[in-house]
Amino acid sequence: MAMVCNLCRTLTPRIEFQLLAPATALLCLCDAHQLENAVLNLCINARDAMPRGGRLRIEVSEVKIAAQQATAVLPEGDYAQIRVTDTGLGMPGSVLQRAFDPFFTTKPRGAGTGLGLSMVQGFARQSAGEAQIDSVVGQGTTVSLLLPVYQGVLPAVVPGTGVAANDAGSSSQGAVLVVDDEAGIRDHVGEALQDIGYLVTEAATATEALRLLPELATLRLLITDIGLPGGIGGDELASLAMQKCPGLKVLFISGFSENSVPTAAFEEGRVHWLPKPFAMSELKTAIDQLVGEA
Ligand SMILES: Nc1ncnc2c1ncn2[C@@H]1O[C@H](COP(=O)(O)OP(=O)(O)OP(=O)(O)O)[C@@H](O)[C@H]1O
Ligand SMILES: [Mg+2]
Repeated sequence: MAMVCNLCRTLTPRIEFQLLAPATALLCLCDAHQLENAVLNLCINARDAMPRGGRLRIEVSEVKIAAQQATAVLPEGDYAQIRVTDTGLGMPGSVLQRAFDPFFTTKPRGAGTGLGLSMVQGFARQSAGEAQIDSVVGQGTTVSLLLPVYQGVLPAVVPGTGVAANDAGSSSQGAVLVVDDEAGIRDHVGEALQDIGYLVTEAATATEALRLLPELATLRLLITDIGLPGGIGGDELASLAMQKCPGLKVLFISGFSENSVPTAAFEEGRVHWLPKPFAMSELKTAIDQLVGEA
C-alpha cells in the first residue's frame, strides 16, 4: 500500500491526497499485489475524473454488515472497507450502470481499455467481497472495496513471497492463460502446464482472453499465438494484459518473427518467444526461464 500512496502523492500537483487508516492493521485473506493494483486503478480513475484538480482520499476502516443488510455476495460479518473518493466529474446513471462492464469506457480510443473497474470487481469477488460505486454528477465518486476481515490464526509466511507457508508447497504454481485459435495446440500446451502445476484457462481469440482476464486474479503467465482471428493480435493482447496485470510474464508461441513484438518488454525479461513448432520439453524450459526471472 505504501507504493500506492507514493504514487498517489505524485499524481498531479493540483490533486490533494489524503490517507485515513486505522492505527491497527486489518487482516484480509487476498492477493496483496492484486489489492495494490485494484487501489491503484481506482486512484487513476479518480485522477482522470479531476482534470482541473481536486481531492483524492483513501479511507480504510472496519465495517459490519448486519443480517438485515447481508446479500448473497456480502454475507453478514466484519469487513475491511477501502474507500477511494474523488471530488471529480461524477458519473451519470448511464455510465454508473455499465461502469463495471468489461470494455466499457468513456475515455478516448487508446486512453482506456475499460477493463479497470471490471478487474477491480473480479478481484473483490474472488476475495469473497465486493466493489460498490456511489457517484453524483458534478460532485464526485466513491468506489468502496469490501473484503472480509480474516478471523483465523495468522499462518506463517514464506519470507518475501507474501504466501502462506501451507500454500507454498501446494500444487498450484498460479494461473496461466493459453490463447491459440488451434484447439489442438491449446489442449497440448494446457495439459503440459497442468502437469507442472498450473491452473490453466484457455481462449481461442484475444477478445475471449480479455473477457476472461478479470476472473483470473492470480494470473502469472500468458501464453499466446501472435496471429489470432478477430482483429486483436497476440501482441496487442499481451500489451493490454501486461498493463492490467503488473508482473505478468508472456510467452509468444508463433511462427512470426520476434520483430513483431515490442522490444522493451523483451529487455525487461517479461516476454519470451518460442517458435512453432516446438517440443513439450522446449515449452517447459522456456516457461522455467521466463517465470524464474525476477
Ligand atoms: N472515479 C471516477 N469518476 C468518474 N467516472 C469514472 C470513475 N471511475 C470510472 N469512471 C467511469 O467508468 C468508466 C470505466 O472505468 P474503468 O476503470 O473500467 O475503465 P477506464 O478507466 O475507462 O479504462 P482503464 O481502466 O482500462 O484505463 C470510465 O471510462 C469512466 O467513464
Ligand atoms: Mg480505469
